[in-house]
Amino acid sequence: MDTFLQHRLAVSRKLPDGLILLAGGSPVLRNGDVCHPFRQGSDFLYLSGVEEPDCWVLIDPKRRRHTLFIPKVDSTHRVWLGHVPSPDEARKAYGFQRALQTHRLASVLRRARRGYRVLYADKAAQRRMAGIDAGACRGLTARPAALRDALDCLRAVKDAGELALLRRASSVTGLAFRAAMASVRPGMFEHEVQAVFEAECRRRGLKRLAFESIVASGANSAVLHYHGNDQRIRKGSLVLIDAGAEHLGYAADITRTFPVDGRFTARQRDVYSIVLDAQKAVIDAARPGVLSADLHVRSMTMIAEGLKGLGLLKGNVSGLVEGGAVRLFYPHGIGHMLGLDVHDPSGGRKRRLPNPTKVPVRFVAKLEPGFVVTVEPGIYFIPALLDDPANRRKFRGSVHFARAEAFRGFGGIRIEDDVVVARSGPPLDLTDVPKEIADVELLMAIRRPSGSSRSPA
Ligand code: GLY
Ligand code: MN
Ligand code: MN
Repeated sequence: MDTFLQHRLAVSRKLPDGLILLAGGSPVLRNGDVCHPFRQGSDFLYLSGVEEPDCWVLIDPKRRRHTLFIPKVDSTHRVWLGHVPSPDEARKAYGFQRALQTHRLASVLRRARRGYRVLYADKAAQRRMAGIDAGACRGLTARPAALRDALDCLRAVKDAGELALLRRASSVTGLAFRAAMASVRPGMFEHEVQAVFEAECRRRGLKRLAFESIVASGANSAVLHYHGNDQRIRKGSLVLIDAGAEHLGYAADITRTFPVDGRFTARQRDVYSIVLDAQKAVIDAARPGVLSADLHVRSMTMIAEGLKGLGLLKGNVSGLVEGGAVRLFYPHGIGHMLGLDVHDPSGGRKRRLPNPTKVPVRFVAKLEPGFVVTVEPGIYFIPALLDDPANRRKFRGSVHFARAEAFRGFGGIRIEDDVVVARSGPPLDLTDVPKEIADVELLMAIRRPSGSSRSPA
């Protein structure tokens, strides 16, 4: 409760000259009369912690008044859905000074607007408000971009309360990874492994996943956002799991890649070691003042060196990075911010910086203590890139396409941890899932009766 109150106070300090109005999410129809499972909007969660649909929050910074509005429900609603908190119960449960039913919103807003000229509300909230009472915001100028910027800026730096929520999301996800990895046998289907992962998250009390789980084996592991999860896991292949649960909206996002048989082959070990070394080096370098773009270039450089060592790339390493050849094997960024959204805002316009590197990167931010970021390099053998005639022409001097041919069907390897940038020194790694080769093999060895590699009945 205090965490969300502090967020309301912080946004009031940033936007002291206007009323701040947020509309919570509403259920979304899926088909017929069935709705998607409801998930509250991230900004609304950030300022309220309220997971119920159809609520509003009004913050009046000058009068230091925060009001939560909750929908009025009739007895039929209670018959089908059970108890719904009264305004007084909601006020106490969520730590607001005042909670009212939503039919009071327009009249409260009309009174509160005295003394203000600005309304900080996004377009959707303005539209919904106009539908309730077209004149409620008269005399106020809406500044949605300023609200977006303030929230992005605040949400980038996680406080102690948020770190506790992220830590729980990560630790449950970690335990679910261990259970899923220990369950894998050749011959199983990808979705059976997914079921073990998701059941473990649920069993430990987390209700939602932060995104759709990826369980990809063999060549599927080279599909970056593979969601089929319906293939049989063949002997000798790699399995990549990229998944995460969320806790009160706060996400985990972890990836591990491991051999279905419990032992890496020499070739798998070679590629895995390059990714792991790059991942550990970037984690160590993720410190305050460092540019995210430089971390990306660092990972590209290490991967280019590694692939050159394997004879898959040739030529000068900085040329392989700047010229884009390494992107044939590593076609995504080093990571992203993590928080209420799995791809969390990167700090607002003020924190975005020019890209000083010679390689294109999606966003450039300078790391600050309290940023939570993922570090997720990878190496993939992607037919769509390696077979593309334009790539074969453009990179014939830097890629050994004939040698890459031997890796057809290998898939890809990604290793992803969630880390908190510390005030000084290396970051705090929230992820507790084995990633060293020996530790992965140990986890896989413990789970299996010796000599048996049969799939369970
Ligand atoms: N799971 C999506 C990502 O790693 O960004
Ligand atoms: Mn991921
Ligand atoms: Mn990620």
